[in-house]
Amino acid sequence: VTASLENCTVLVTGGAGFIGCAISQRLAPLVGSYVVLDNLHPQVHSARVRPADLHESATLVVGDVTEAPAWDGLLAEHSPDVVIHLAAETGTGQSLTESTRHAHVNVVGTTQMLDAFTRFERRPSHILLSSSRAVYGEGAWQRTDGEIFYPGQRTHAQLERGQWDYSEAISLPSSVGVTTPDPTSVYGATKLAQEQILRSWAQSFSVPTTVLRLQNVYGPGQSLTNSYTGIVALFSQLARRGESIPLYEDGDVTRDFVFIDDVADAFVAAAQRPPAISRAADIGSGERSSIAQMATLLAQHYDAPLPKVNGMFRDGDVRHAHCSISSAQALLEWEPRWSLAAGLAKLQDWLPTALA
Ligand SMILES: NC(=O)c1ccc[n+]([C@@H]2O[C@H](COP(=O)([O-])OP(=O)(O)OC[C@H]3O[C@@H](n4cnc5c(N)ncnc54)[C@H](O)[C@@H]3O)[C@@H](O)[C@H]2O)c1
Repeated sequence: VTASLENCTVLVTGGAGFIGCAISQRLAPLVGSYVVLDNLHPQVHSARVRPADLHESATLVVGDVTEAPAWDGLLAEHSPDVVIHLAAETGTGQSLTESTRHAHVNVVGTTQMLDAFTRFERRPSHILLSSSRAVYGEGAWQRTDGEIFYPGQRTHAQLERGQWDYSEAISLPSSVGVTTPDPTSVYGATKLAQEQILRSWAQSFSVPTTVLRLQNVYGPGQSLTNSYTGIVALFSQLARRGESIPLYEDGDVTRDFVFIDDVADAFVAAAQRPPAISRAADIGSGERSSIAQMATLLAQHYDAPLPKVNGMFRDGDVRHAHCSISSAQALLEWEPRWSLAAGLAKLQDWLPTALA
């Protein structure tokens, strides 16, 4: 069912960020009113001004999702029909040492939102949540004899020995409803908590929900300075300066890099096709690439020296992350359109303006 959104008020928390701005360009023109609640977090918005990429018709309310008065002010003025909850602390590595901050924004930010709806007796017609591949942690693996197992988190000692993979086993693509979530980062645990809190609340009040578990999103508009989230942008800048990109572990860490336009399209498709109750889907390109492959494409683009393995590692990093997109294809009638090579080239086109 395609719902007409033209008379709807859409509220997007964290809607002034990377993914939020891309969604605004597509969704704001289709809806009656488009409202963004965002505190312009200094780690994301160094200038703390309205981002140029936020669609001109969007109303920006500067406020913190963890603060009840911010919600009271917003809901006194606006009555959201569709809510897209993006506001979050997003640094996986940083979440280990700043776990309270991550838990506060991601978990309490979600509960404050739901309590505010209760105070105002509002029941949105659909709430969408941007969850993460991080909820799967290392995901499920399969041994050569067919046995499926969950390796959990690699230990510090194992990484110190350079034992990156699990021998005689391969990592399986993660899939909603098939792969059991088992986060190995504080960030991943807070994203899973968001999903579970939202679902419990929404089912009690018969509010339909969509959870999209995003793989690694990249593309124009992504942060160039946030070393916790922007590996593709950081590597792009190294290659552009003619430097060799350093590769952690043996370079064969794999990820599913999904282009920003595909992610924004997935949110719009989900908003246009609300579920009867609750649903969840994985959003990725459907392709897995090693960090070395991604870095090599960038080095070739700039004729820079080839990437070099440096054997370093980060505790809590998962070895392989990739997903099956069949749930998204079936539930959202959505398809990713961008190959990694095309998406990386598009990002490079944008870099000079962004760096200027
Ligand atoms: N980018 C990715 O690769 C990726 C992958 C998986 C999941 N996600 C999820 O997608 C969502 C959006 O991510 P993004 O990449 O656009 O990040 P981003 O950092 O660019 O955007 C997040 C936005 O939230 C705002 N924000 C942060 N704390 C806030 C608070 N307390 N109150 C109000 N606003 C607050 C920030 O100012 C920012 O504008 C997040 O929920 C993230 O967990 C992103």
